[in-house]
Formats: sequence, C-alpha cells, structure tokens
Amino acid sequence: FFQTVASPPSSNFLLLGPSGAGKTAFTTLLEAKSSLASNKSHSTHTSQQSTLVTVTLPPTVPTGSNRYRSVNDPSLKEAIRNPIKYRVKDTPGHGKLRASQGISELQTMSQSKDIKTRLRGVVFMVDTAALVDGATLRDTAAYLHDVLLFLQKRAKNGSSSKRTTEVPVLVAANKQDLFTALPPGAVKEKLEAEIDRIRKSKTKGLLDASADTELEDEEEILGNDEQEAFSFKLLEHEVGVKVDVVGGAVKGDLNEEFGSGVRRWEEWVGMCL
Ligand code: GTP
Ligand code: MG
Repeated sequence: FFQTVASPPSSNFLLLGPSGAGKTAFTTLLEAKSSLASNKSHSTHTSQQSTLVTVTLPPTVPTGSNRYRSVNDPSLKEAIRNPIKYRVKDTPGHGKLRASQGISELQTMSQSKDIKTRLRGVVFMVDTAALVDGATLRDTAAYLHDVLLFLQKRAKNGSSSKRTTEVPVLVAANKQDLFTALPPGAVKEKLEAEIDRIRKSKTKGLLDASADTELEDEEEILGNDEQEAFSFKLLEHEVGVKVDVVGGAVKGDLNEEFGSGVRRWEEWVGMCL
C-alpha cells in the first residue's frame, strides 16, 4: 500500500515589483492553472492590498530536492498523484504602498523562524516593454535596490552556518510577447547599470554627509565593493544573494524559447523547493 503524505503548502514566495508589471495577472494565472476550473482570464486592476494564494507546481517541473525528474521517473507518478503546493503573496507595486506592503512583507516573511513558513524566494516582476522609459527604469531599479539591500543586511546578520537560507531573487522579465519588449539580457544590463548609479549617488551622499559629522553607524553599500561596477554576479559573490533574470509572459503567445509563458519561472520556483 501507499501512504499518501499530503504536502502542506508551506513554502512561501513573495511577489514584488512596480505597478503594472503583471504581478496580479501572474497570480491569477497560477491560480487558474492550479484549479481545474476553466482558464478564464480575469481583468486585473491596480492592487492596494496584498493577497496570499495557494497554487500547484506542475508535476513535470523538477524540484530542487528532485532535480533529475524525467518522464520515465517513478517519482513523476507520485508528483501527479500528490502535486507540490506553494504559496505566493501578491503585493501592490504602487510607490506609495511599497514601504507599508512590499518591503514590510519582505521583512515579516523573511524573519519567520518557523522553517515551514519561511520565505523560499522573491519574484521581482518587471514590465520589459516599459523599461525603455528612463523614469520607469529608475523607479524599477530603485525598488529592486531596496529589496536587495534588505536581503544583503539579512544575509550579513545571519550566522555563517545559515548560509544556505539566503533568499534567492528571480527577476521575472515579463511581457516578452510585446514586440517592444527588451530581451532578458538587456533588462539585466539596464538594471545593473541603474543600480550602480543609485549606489554611486548613495556613496557620494554619505561622503558629503559625513564630512562634517562623525561617521556613525556605517551605511551599507549594495554589493559591498564600491570600486567594481555593480552586477548581480558581484552581489552573489560578495554577499551570497543570488539573482536570476528570466524572460516570460503572463499574457500572449510565446515561441518555444519560453515554453508556456511562465514555465521557466515555475522551474525557478521548483528549484527553490
Ligand atoms: P499593481 O497591482 O499596480 O502593483 O500592478 P500588477 O503588477 O499587479 O499588474 P497587473 O497584473 O494588474 O497587470 C497590469 C497590466 O499588464 C494588465 O493590463 C495585464 O493584463 C497586463 N499584462 C500582464 N502580463 C502581461 C504580459 O505578459 N503581456 C502583456 N502584453 N500584458 C500583460
Ligand atoms: Mg496587482
């Protein structure tokens, strides 16, 4: 006989990113995919509250603890019978709600002592068609900078033995279906360059401020090394916080490169489980 162990939906992911990126559309799609109900798409509107949904990982998506799952693998049968559930918290991206919602959720969820409810990963969603606009790029990079700086401080305060509990970040480069969309590689470069600019102006501000006052508690610089240009690689190397930029689309059709529009993001989620 088989003992069916119901997997509790205990792995939490936090969905962050600026307004209009497609966070609620993504959450709604994951919910529709998880229930066998008809896949009707709901129209979304600007969120003002965070919502928590429980969704299912498609059985064919490998998980971190089961990396080599293939179609012939007996564990696939088990996965179909007993699909892995996880939870996603959708947050509002509006600038005025970030401190009270997105960043605040990040603090609460990442500080959970309970291993069962601890934060497994952050999905930071961006609208890749909107990033050509300078103001949108600055706003997006500023939000991402704050998220990463929080994770850096968290990583440093943790003991070295907790190295493996660093929270990874997926930059979900959404809306790849639009012909005006920047490809993921360009999104990565633009975000890195803009975060570098933010870092530089922060360092300069700190130097100016400390010119006449005692240097009090040292403000941290994202990625530590001020000499080197900022990159997600640098952050991983210096701090241990891993950032991946992966393209996809919640809406519209994509070619095989992306599979179903959100497949590669689900694969990233799977690797965190
Ligand atoms: P806030 O709640 O304000 O933070 O925004 P949000 O990130 O939740 O954005 P939302 O999901 O409401 O999506 C904004 C708009 O983008 C909606 O009109 C979506 O239909 C559209 N959208 C989302 N994903 C895609 C995509 O992959 N491609 C295209 N073309 N449009 C998309
Ligand atoms: Mg929303």
